[in-house]
Formats: sequence, C-alpha cells, structure tokens
Amino acid sequence: MSGAPIEIHGYAIVTDDDRIAGPDGETPIALRNEADWLNFQRELDRADLVVLGRRGHQANPNVKGRRRLVISNSAAGLEAREGEIWWRPAAVSWPDVAAALLPKGGRVAVPGGQGVFDLFLAIGYDAFHLTRGLGVIAPGGRALFSACDRRASAETVLTEAGLQPRETRILDKAANIVLTVWRKS
Ligand SMILES: NC(=O)c1ccc[n+]([C@@H]2O[C@H](COP(=O)([O-])OP(=O)(O)OC[C@H]3O[C@@H](n4cnc5c(N)ncnc54)[C@H](OP(=O)(O)O)[C@@H]3O)[C@@H](O)[C@H]2O)c1
Repeated sequence: MSGAPIEIHGYAIVTDDDRIAGPDGETPIALRNEADWLNFQRELDRADLVVLGRRGHQANPNVKGRRRLVISNSAAGLEAREGEIWWRPAAVSWPDVAAALLPKGGRVAVPGGQGVFDLFLAIGYDAFHLTRGLGVIAPGGRALFSACDRRASAETVLTEAGLQPRETRILDKAANIVLTVWRKS
C-alpha cells in the first residue's frame, strides 16, 4: 500500500428525496444546472484521477482527456482499455490501485453513480461536495447511496461516515441550487 497522501472527494447533485437520477435512469432536468456544472468542472480540473461507473463513462465522453478510472465488472482487474484505465474492485483492492496509479499521492474525484459512491463510502471520503436542487423530487429514482433506499438521508449517511458540513454556498439562487461541502472531522 502507498503511504503517499491521497484525498478522496465525492461529487453529487441530488433531489430532496436524495436521488441522483429519475426512474428512467436519467439525471432529472431540474438537476442539470449550469452553475453546478461549472463548479463541478472546475473541481474535476483539480483532480489527478476521476473515478466513475461504466454507465457514466459511456454517457459522458472524456472530451477534456482527464485521467479516468472506469469501474466495471467487465474488467479483469486493473487494465488499460480504450484510452482509459478500467478497474474491477472485486479483483484489485483500492490500496493496490492507489499505489499503482498515484504513487506520489494526489486528489481523487468520485462523480458516481450509486455503486461507485457506495464503494468509496467504504474506502473513506475526505470530502463530499453535496449539491441539492431544492424543491425537486424523483420518486422511484436512483438513490445517491444505497442506504438512502433504506430511509437514511444523504446527510445521515455522510455523518455516519465521519464527515461534517463545513461550508454552504448558494450556487444558483433563482434555481434553488445549494452546495454543502462535507469534510472529515
Ligand atoms: N446527480 C448526480 O450527481 C449523478 C451522479 C452520477 C450519476 N448520475 C446519473 O445516474 C445515472 C447512472 O447512474 P448509475 O449508478 O446507474 O451508473 P454508473 O455508476 O455510472 O454505472 C453503473 C455501472 O458501473 C459499474 N459499477 C458500479 N459500481 C461497481 C462496483 N462496486 N463494482 C463493479 N462495477 C461497478 C457497473 O458496470 P458493469 O455493468 O460494466 O459491470 C455498473 O453497471 C445516470 O443517469 C447518471 O447521469 C447522476
């Protein structure tokens, strides 16, 4: 395992009922907000590695050429494929991945989806950038964390993971888009 310092940052925009996507599997229109998107892009520019699920990878081509780690059960372990790095967590542990890809440490951005958010909840976030689209709901949609399907709010899950709300910013007043950054206490 690498002893180099690694910071893991999660990023999500959610509805009042803690959904990242509607029942159709798509991000609700009301959560597609320009101010949030620009903030998110600036954050990704600061990352040394962006880790996302296979569906998110396929839906969002890597136009900026960021260093991407795609999680999929179709990967044998940790492998180079189609210009990205692919990873099957059941085959290779995170400490081994971190030691191989970030030997000098660095900043990791985790933009989901749910399986990826759950995976890094177990590994440990140093920060979670939780944006809320206030007044938006998506019943039957995809929850941020699987625990949110068992009635735990995103805030409860983050608190139980040892994070605390440190800073809140209104990203778009007219659209009721509010960001809270949770950090390890
Ligand atoms: N609002 C937000 O902030 C936000 C954030 C993220 C995503 N979304 C939206 O949510 C929807 C998709 O989310 P999603 O959760 O269904 O998709 P996703 O995480 O992008 O992709 C799911 C796939 O990732 C792989 N995967 C995830 N966790 C894994 C694990 N622990 N081990 C092995 N493979 C794993 C699997 O790929 P294989 O099938 O290849 O094995 C799985 O089918 C999209 O509409 C997306 O735009 C919204």
